[in-house]
Amino acid sequence: MAMEPIIEAQALTKRFPAKKQKTTAAQQPPAVADLTFQVARGELVAFLGPNGAGKSTSLRMLTTLIPPTAGTARVVGFDILQRPADVRARIGYVGQLTSGSFSQRARDELLSQGAFYGMSKHAARRRADELIDSLDLGSFAARSVQQLSGGQKRRLDVALGLMHAPPLLFLDEPSTGLDPQSRANLWQHILELRRSHGTTVFLTTHYLEEADRYAERVMVMDRGRVIADDTAARLKAELAGDVISLGFDTPADADAAMPIVAALTDRDVRREDAASVTVTVPDGDALLPQAVRALDADGIRVQRATGVPPTLDDVFLALTGRTLREAGEGEPAEEPADDASAEQTGASR
Ligand SMILES: Nc1ncnc2c1ncn2[C@@H]1O[C@H](COP(=O)(O)OP(=O)(O)OP(=O)(O)O)[C@@H](O)[C@H]1O
Ligand SMILES: [Mg+2]
Repeated sequence: MAMEPIIEAQALTKRFPAKKQKTTAAQQPPAVADLTFQVARGELVAFLGPNGAGKSTSLRMLTTLIPPTAGTARVVGFDILQRPADVRARIGYVGQLTSGSFSQRARDELLSQGAFYGMSKHAARRRADELIDSLDLGSFAARSVQQLSGGQKRRLDVALGLMHAPPLLFLDEPSTGLDPQSRANLWQHILELRRSHGTTVFLTTHYLEEADRYAERVMVMDRGRVIADDTAARLKAELAGDVISLGFDTPADADAAMPIVAALTDRDVRREDAASVTVTVPDGDALLPQAVRALDADGIRVQRATGVPPTLDDVFLALTGRTLREAGEGEPAEEPADDASAEQTGASR
């Protein structure tokens, strides 16, 4: 018999009250609409989507921080509405907003967290020192939290979420604002947690290459709805595909090449510029030499051929017609997705 899923969301929906304007809550689109999915024990799932898509709202419902407007979920075997305390005791959660207002020292903060989860002093010390080591907190572990930089605080936040080694960990943008070395360390730690404890990890990120590389499953959310849910490799192969570009000596050659490439690929072939064409195909590695041979056989010399593998952004583009960067609820474009500065107020743990 299959094991019970560790997360089982059933039509989870969240509508926030309308702002002052005339719109009523009923007219306003829900922040999260009809979210239904399951996560098996031990999975590593990345939740992607533009700003305002509803990722944090989903996580906050699943962690019992806010009640859904409709629907429900079972998390670690307990209903989030009926048994919120049981859910909370068995999960770790690192919110998107950083804490930062503590006057305790970073290491003491970790020990308090351990005590809160009922760890013995000895176990808490051992675990804190392990995390200080692996997340590289050593240089500031004795400093008070108020004095830490944004990235240092973020690493401490993540360490706090990992203190009691819960079976299920929710991380809302754990790597946002970290330098590349710290991001890599954090990921090594997450992967190690899974290897050694079988921890299930459900996280959000705006770093597509992270999701692509480390997550075994990617859920894409847009406007409150999950619009794709699969491995990154399958999403890319099925929805996006490799972009092949072929360059020729003359525009006349490009003209002649278009129907040949179209027949070979059964896809729309587009003109890239006067003397080159482009086509998106599921398996570029195989197609590229075939196309060159077919054109050659017709006396058309291919002067340049490249194949670019798709990214998860291409997947989002294929699904929505927008890039992830464009899609963020009309927020100012100058706000980079990897900038933590917008997220530094308030505590959500
Ligand atoms: N407390 C709240 N009150 C009113 N509206 C809210 C509240 N929290 C979130 N929203 C709205 O719900 C929608 C989803 O927000 P949410 O924070 O879940 O997005 P997100 O996917 O986490 O985005 P980001 O990538 O920017 O973190 C947005 O339109 C947001 O403005
Ligand atoms: Mg968010």
